[in-house]
Amino acid sequence: MAADLVIRNRVSLQSRNTLALPGTAEQFCAVSTTAQLEAALDHARSQELAVTVLGGGSNVVIAGDIAGLVIAMAIPGRELLGDSDDSVVVRYGAGENWHDLVCHALDQNWFGLENLSLIPGCAGAAPIQNIGAYGVELKQSFVALDAMDIATGAKMRLDGGDCAFGYRDSIFKHELLNRVVITAVELRLEKVPAPNLGYPVLRQALEAEYGDLDTVTPRQVSDAVCAIRRSKLPDPASIANAGSFFKNPVVNAEQGAALAAALPDLPRYPQADGSVKLAAAWLIDRAGWKGSRHGHVGVHDQQALVLINRGGATGGELLDLARAIADNIQLRFGVSLEMEPRILGKVPSG
Ligand code: FAD
Ligand code: EPU
Repeated sequence: MAADLVIRNRVSLQSRNTLALPGTAEQFCAVSTTAQLEAALDHARSQELAVTVLGGGSNVVIAGDIAGLVIAMAIPGRELLGDSDDSVVVRYGAGENWHDLVCHALDQNWFGLENLSLIPGCAGAAPIQNIGAYGVELKQSFVALDAMDIATGAKMRLDGGDCAFGYRDSIFKHELLNRVVITAVELRLEKVPAPNLGYPVLRQALEAEYGDLDTVTPRQVSDAVCAIRRSKLPDPASIANAGSFFKNPVVNAEQGAALAAALPDLPRYPQADGSVKLAAAWLIDRAGWKGSRHGHVGVHDQQALVLINRGGATGGELLDLARAIADNIQLRFGVSLEMEPRILGKVPSG
């Protein structure tokens, strides 16, 4: 075992998830080098322990205690791999904080990530759901990632095609679910600014502030994204949450047309394949859940897609509320909601 790897027993994860849910890791270690990660995986194999990877804990629901070894990803690194006239390729350690990475890129005049400003969490988690915001997704800058196979310790490299990115989706939610630890992410960043102003709320905010959109800089886009996010999304440091609790549902063209006829105000985003993405927040809001309180949990009063821990909640209480909302939306609108955060651990029985 790498001499400097420290494995502890029964470690609370409450301060390591943005929903502040209670739960204990049977065994826990933080890894800041790939050698430590190899040692941690060797240890888990020799003790036949299940492995759970944790980044910033901003997209998980800790349902209860987690059996086996929880590995907190803390591998740092920002390495310039390529530099051409119009772009750079940079490798980021999986433990790098995402927003710090976006700010660092902007400081270097490397562009393409500005719409993804202020998303909590670590670089290594970004490919898991192909993070997205304000009209941009990770996959647009993604080159490749390095990962380690949990079962064998083998190192692997996956490019964008291998990762099968979709809306809040990737191979890491399917074939490679719980099978790999991502150790580094390589991104191609542009030297020539090409602000993406397609998202209506963002465009309107920039128009209101600067008038002429032709002169808007990536830094101004980043600042506007941060301002919009701060006005809508609660800061987990003051209100415990995991961002959007459900994905925006995608329905077929026929159901999309039926819903449009019945609910003319429902925001709809037509997709290239004819399907239609719907605003889950609007449906939950229309159904009357926004701002509601249910014991220790509730629905945020500014954004109906955000479930909150009002203090002292358990994962079980939060999941009960999520189920009640999803059942109600299914009943009222015939639309299925799918949870975005991953559930870790089990709700205690009894
Ligand atoms: P964690 O929550 O720690 O982990 C998430 C999942 O990834 C878990 O299954 C975990 O096992 C796995 N995982 C983490 N690291 C690794 C690794 N190195 N290797 C393998 N598996 C790993 N998301 C968006 O896409 N867009 C948004 O606009 C957005 N806004 C948010 C706003 C708020 C206020 C909050 C709280 C969350 C928001 N999110 C958003 C969700 C979240 O920030 C992202 O999904 C983020 O990428 C999660 O990073 P994390 O390090 O916290 O991952
Ligand atoms: N709306 C309501 N009521 C509300 C909130 C929103 O009716 O309480 C309406 C808005 O008026 C708008 C629509 O719903 O017409 C969409 O709202 P918003 O622009 O706030 O975006 P969202 O669809 O709720 C998605 C992502 C966010 C991302 C933003 C910006 C998902 C599941 N969520 O939210 O990602 O930051 O767009 O791109 O796709 C996350 O994944 O955790 C996350 C925060």
